[in-house]
Amino acid sequence: MHLRSQEWFGRTGKDGFIYRAWMKNQGFPHHLFENKPVIGICNTFSELTPCNAHFRDLAEAVKRGVWEAGGFPLEFPVMSLGECQMKPTTMLFRNLASMDVEESIRGNSMDAVVLLCGCDKTTPSLLMGACSVDLPTLVVSGGPMLAGKYKGRNIGTSDLWRFAEANKKGEMSQEEFVAAEACMARSQGHCAVMGTASTMAAMAESLGLALPDNATIPAADSRRKVLAHLAGMRAVEMARQNIRPSQILTRQAFENAIMVNAALGGSTNFIIHLTAIAGRMGVDLTLDDFDKLSAKIPLLANLQPSGEHFVEDLFYAGGLPAIIKELKQFLHNDAMTINGRTLGENCANAECYNPEVIASVDQPFKPESGIAVLRGNLCPNGAVLKPSAASPELMQHTGRAVVFENIDDYKKRVDDPDLDVDPSCVLVLKNVGPKGYPGMPEVGNMQLPAKVLAQGVHDMVRISDGRMSGTGFGTVVLHVSPEAAVGGNLALVQNGDMITLDVDKRLLHLHVDEEELARRLAHFRPLDLGYDRGYTKMYIRHVLQAHEGADFDFLQGGSGPVVKRDSH
Ligand code: FES
Ligand code: MG
Repeated sequence: MHLRSQEWFGRTGKDGFIYRAWMKNQGFPHHLFENKPVIGICNTFSELTPCNAHFRDLAEAVKRGVWEAGGFPLEFPVMSLGECQMKPTTMLFRNLASMDVEESIRGNSMDAVVLLCGCDKTTPSLLMGACSVDLPTLVVSGGPMLAGKYKGRNIGTSDLWRFAEANKKGEMSQEEFVAAEACMARSQGHCAVMGTASTMAAMAESLGLALPDNATIPAADSRRKVLAHLAGMRAVEMARQNIRPSQILTRQAFENAIMVNAALGGSTNFIIHLTAIAGRMGVDLTLDDFDKLSAKIPLLANLQPSGEHFVEDLFYAGGLPAIIKELKQFLHNDAMTINGRTLGENCANAECYNPEVIASVDQPFKPESGIAVLRGNLCPNGAVLKPSAASPELMQHTGRAVVFENIDDYKKRVDDPDLDVDPSCVLVLKNVGPKGYPGMPEVGNMQLPAKVLAQGVHDMVRISDGRMSGTGFGTVVLHVSPEAAVGGNLALVQNGDMITLDVDKRLLHLHVDEEELARRLAHFRPLDLGYDRGYTKMYIRHVLQAHEGADFDFLQGGSGPVVKRDSH
């Protein structure tokens, strides 16, 4: 067996000396450098990424497994993206982190890599980077938080939106609001609902890149460390057998992930991240695949934000394997996974222990699931809406546009008592797309105007080129492409224009004729946001549109694991 790491540690002469000598300052005996599979542990630990703050412990559990299986674990840090801390949005830095991960893996002496992923962007950024290298790769997620407990009831991130509304209306005091913060985030782990972090963990498991149950074991449950230990052991075997992402991530694997995500009611961010990962693997995935493949899948999981329960409840009810087994008739069950067994084999003995949390295909939680991809003159390259999180009575709706030119304009005017708005209007927010914000933040589920909230109304049709938090809900049209900042028709909408949303027909139409749109386009001037140096300048120049996964144009595909030149 030839191990890649021997191109460092197995060398003679000056180069071998250099590659080994400094490593030995950590107290590693010489035999570790003699043909042992080196397992990189790619750690997104950071105290500024609270969802991943327990990853030192998790890495130790992976190491125990690696040692047990006869490997040599070496942990390394990469850029960590904390969803709740980073300004202006972690999405601006997802591609940057993926570059860090890609070069850190390729440039170093490892035979396989375990990716420690948790908070939203830490999963796609690590996977994108690792896929472009294509060494044996396995995901270990940090696990969800335990459900919060506030005044005797369970709460999670989706309640944040409700609490903020109640606080704004004066129904919840500032003291109660602050108390709720601590009650919500009471354990280690990422968001406890089926938000983007758990959506990404489920994506990794359904793609076949993680061990069964990786997506749902709570962070605080000792079985999370057991899984990490087993993953360490498995990574050593994967290094020996050279099982690479390119063998796992077939078109079938991507299709499985889309269908499982539909049954879970996963985040709309799933679309952007999965598309970006497919781009790294050279698998052609379009928005229409998401709509087509999820159209036949009913919503099985009764989880917030589409339902009531929490990801820990999904684990107790049988976890992702129970969902996958229930979807057997739809999935490519023979898709290979990282443990050497097929997806179908992994889930063959799964059982549902609580039909209240995991419904059946025959009696689903909701008939509508997945992602609706809309087209029309407002979004020629597509826009998305999550039917399970929307209001049925707004799925066919025509209303008058109330336009906000950018996020500052929105913040300034949304609660103005003089704002000309009623609940039948359509809120349009421009310039929150990839290039326009820049970074495509999670502001698409914009809070309703105070005036509308005061009438007891909780949902309106909202349209933007931005994203929404995976924990968010509402009749929210997102990811409009092309975005306003590049002169898409979204940029041309004016107050008073009529807009039709028809989810059944997959239509988003602006009732303004072609000639008038052409006249308005002649006056369109792209924004100058003043980013004339550094990473943000590069981002604006190279980021692709939402329907293409918002990766950088020059990062699509991969460069493989070979580095021909030495460092001295
Ligand atoms: Fe990290 Fe929600 S803030 S997963
Ligand atoms: Mg988020």
